[in-house]
Amino acid sequence: MAEDGLGRGSGDETASGVGRRGFLQLSGVAAAAVIGWARDVRAQASPDKWATPPGVETFQEATLIDEVTKALREGVSCSSVLRDDRYMPVHAFPRFREAIKSHATTAPLSICGDSEPGERASVRLLVQDAAGTPIPNALIYLYHTSSKGWYSDRGYHVQANAGDEKHSRLFGYVRTAPNGAAEINTIRPAGYPDGDLPAHYHVEVLVW
Ligand SMILES: [Fe+2]
Repeated sequence: MAEDGLGRGSGDETASGVGRRGFLQLSGVAAAAVIGWARDVRAQASPDKWATPPGVETFQEATLIDEVTKALREGVSCSSVLRDDRYMPVHAFPRFREAIKSHATTAPLSICGDSEPGERASVRLLVQDAAGTPIPNALIYLYHTSSKGWYSDRGYHVQANAGDEKHSRLFGYVRTAPNGAAEINTIRPAGYPDGDLPAHYHVEVLVW
């Protein structure tokens, strides 16, 4: 993965050695090294650290998710949905995420709209097997923090088992093209406000 911070990807990240072993999580230092080191900001213990995971959908939330599900079935793109600020309040909900996942395509994906703060970035990935043969139609899941290092709009982390992974506000699914490539347009994340972990993208690849 390489990007120039201006929304112009300049290279590829090769998930070599993935083979066909199911999920591979590429996260932490390797991905973070590309992005650069996080700001050296240490916050004191903060009430903002933990956000509660989504609970039972309210009528309004259910209505929004139903609207999204219907729109996707009728051909509206995942990028259009994810860029639409009206749906941001329901990004953390499992049913919303499943709808996005089940409609993933090979088209370049945008996962946030113009109102999302942060420097624009393009994440380009290439999925290959151990022999270097491109793997088409692999499902890629990407999630990351906001420009202030938060996974939720209410806290740094989501307080649940694998809460950030399950409920990150900024996320998307995309499939690899016949040449194994995929592209996701988003923002540069920031490191967690209370730690030394550099800014990073979480990338998971499902191959079957
Ligand atoms: Fe993380």
